[in-house]
Parts: sequence; structure tokens; C-alpha cells
Amino acid sequence: MRVYLDNAATTPLDKEVFDAMAPFMLEHFGNPSSIHAHGREVRSAIEKARRTVATLLNTSPAEIFFTSGGTEADNAAIVCTCRSLGITHAVSTQLEHHAVLHTLEMLEKNGEMNVSYLRHDKRGVLDLEHLEELLASNPRTLVSIMHANNEIGTLNDIEAIGAICKKYDAIFHSDTVQTMGHYKHDLQQVGANFIVGSSHKFHGPKGVGFLYCDAGTKIQPLIQGGAQERNMRGGTENVYGIIGLAKALEIAYRDMVEHAKHIQSLKDRMIFKLREQLEDVSFNGMSEFGDKSLYTVLNVSLPASDINEMLLFSLDINKISASGGSACSSGANAGSHVLRALGVDPARGSVRFSFSKYNTVDEIDYVAETLAKMYKKVLV
Ligand SMILES: Cc1ncc(COP(=O)(O)O)c(C=O)c1O
Repeated sequence: MRVYLDNAATTPLDKEVFDAMAPFMLEHFGNPSSIHAHGREVRSAIEKARRTVATLLNTSPAEIFFTSGGTEADNAAIVCTCRSLGITHAVSTQLEHHAVLHTLEMLEKNGEMNVSYLRHDKRGVLDLEHLEELLASNPRTLVSIMHANNEIGTLNDIEAIGAICKKYDAIFHSDTVQTMGHYKHDLQQVGANFIVGSSHKFHGPKGVGFLYCDAGTKIQPLIQGGAQERNMRGGTENVYGIIGLAKALEIAYRDMVEHAKHIQSLKDRMIFKLREQLEDVSFNGMSEFGDKSLYTVLNVSLPASDINEMLLFSLDINKISASGGSACSSGANAGSHVLRALGVDPARGSVRFSFSKYNTVDEIDYVAETLAKMYKKVLV
């Protein structure tokens, strides 16, 4: 048995999704920009996919732009807000994904943007009063705050953040990569100018995602070239990727309640088993609290031990695929910027387990027992 508990990194493709994609790899190969029948049938499939995504998110197809993934969508939202709207101040957090942090750093280095970082506590909970203070003294700001953290799972209240942004007339971008397909997004409620999705995080194909850009926010394309995506993103579309993305999102919404229940129960079992079998185990961020963190992510903090250096490697040898990383900032392994920002003790071991609809109770029990044996603290 090999156990895959790295679903925040990527998820296995759903067979139903593959079946929807296959005809667009073999039979329907036309270029969607071609005006002949081969092109037109593919164009119409892309537009159907766009309508599916828009309907699920309660928005209009004109506001959905397909991209090469979450990273490109985040880049587009941030860079284009700066360059098209002339916004030169951003508020973000040190807990964002590098797709956001490195983009902001690049703009800052170029002298195009000043970035302020929100205060947060040791569990990664953001100080929204600080957000109000920063916005009150900086009109016309870009606020870039993720919906849920990919490493520790902490959920941010994006509706509350959206309301604050509206009050101060700020542009709001939320990296929703980790919640897309796992939570329902009603874009009439969120009040964001931009949100993003990445298909491989919800059992779709890799290398495809989307940017939602609200109709009132007029930006120029990040990628220049052809007139694809209504002149908003040059380049021949990743047709089967787009078909797969829409199918994967449709399935995710269709089965969400059932899968969320199953995955939450696996996470709860993992917490219980680890507490039962290991001494001095705790959980980074808010990951042990049901409604405050992703049900798909559990970031485990393990006692200081020599084996922490090789923790992920040892798990791999034991046929367990997980990720995470220490808070350490020396050596070849730069460590996790998120755990460092939380002030997690670098001597402790940290591992992120992330679950999907395909995981089983037996897998959870095996992983908990293996970890307990590794730390030689089995109490039974
Ligand atoms: C929060 C978050 N944002 C952005 C990305 C990047 O998405 P993609 O892999 O589609 O470029 C990821 C993927 O790990 C992520 O977890």
C-alpha cells in the first residue's frame, strides 16, 4: 500500500473528468480560433465550459478567463491591477502562496508598488482592524488575501474582508486556489474583484485554471498575443484542460456535501489517532479546528527529535507521500515561510497531511501508526 496524503499539492485526476477530456485530445482537435467547422465545435465546447464555471460560481461567463493555472491567474490579478489601474499600494499577508508573494516582491523591487503586510497571530489569524487602519490611510489599495492557507489550512473570512475593501474602495484579490471545488463560492456575496481557481486541486488536469475578474474592473492582459479569451489572454487555449476543469468543478459541486463529510471525518480520525498514539503532538495554525480551517489540510507539529531532519524522507520510505517542511531557514532546505512567519519552533517536526475523497480510514490508521512508531512513542 502506498498512501497519498499530499492533496493540497495536487489531486489525482477523476476518471469521469478524463472521459470528458479524451475526445478533445483525439477527435475534436480543431483550433478554437479557426472559423471552419473543426474550430467552431471546439470554440463552442470552451464557451460551454465557461458557462458551467460561471453558473457554479453564480456569476457571468464574461467574467471568467481561462489561464495556465493558479499562478498565472494570481500574477494577472496583481500585475494588471498595478499597471492597468495605476494602483501603487498593496496590503497582503506573509502567509500567502509564493504566486502572490513573489509577484508583489517583483513589483516592489521594480519600484511599482509598496506593500504592507497585515498583522496576524501565532495561528495565522489575521488582524482585520489592522486592515481597516491600513486602508483608511491608503486610498486606492490592492488587497491580496488568500481564502485559505495551503500549508496550515487557516480559513480567512473573505466576505468580511470584501466588505472592508468595499468600504474603503480598495480592489480585492483573493487566492481561492485551496477552497475552489471544496467550498461553494457565491461571487455575488464575496465582493471580490478577482478570485482564482486551479483545476488540479479538485481532481482536474494540471496546467489549467481561471481568473474571475469582475466586469467593472477594467484591466489589460498580462499575456500579449492573439485575441483569445476576448483579448484578455493571448495564446491558443488548453482545450482539453478547460473541458476537464469545468467537468471537475461540476463534479466537485455535485458531490461536495458527501465528500466534505467523508474528508472531515478522516481528518478528525487522524487528529484523534495522533493524540492517542503520540506524546507532545500539536497542530500548526488553526488546522485542528473544524470551521476555522480547510477540512482537507492538517498540519502536524511533532516533538523535537533527530528524525525531524529526515521526516518527509522517512515517511516516503514508509510508503507515505506527504509534504510540509520545517520552519528552519538554514541549509539547502529553505523551510516553510508560513511556519517561520508563525514563529513555529524550528526544532519541532512539521508535516502537512492533505486529504481527498479517495483516501480511506485504513490509510489514516496506517499513517498514524507509522508516525507513532517512527517517534517510538507507541503507548499500547
Ligand atoms: C494557495 C495557492 N495559490 C496558488 C497556487 C498555484 O497554483 P498552480 O499550481 O495552478 O499554479 C497553489 C498551488 O500550490 C496554491 O496552493
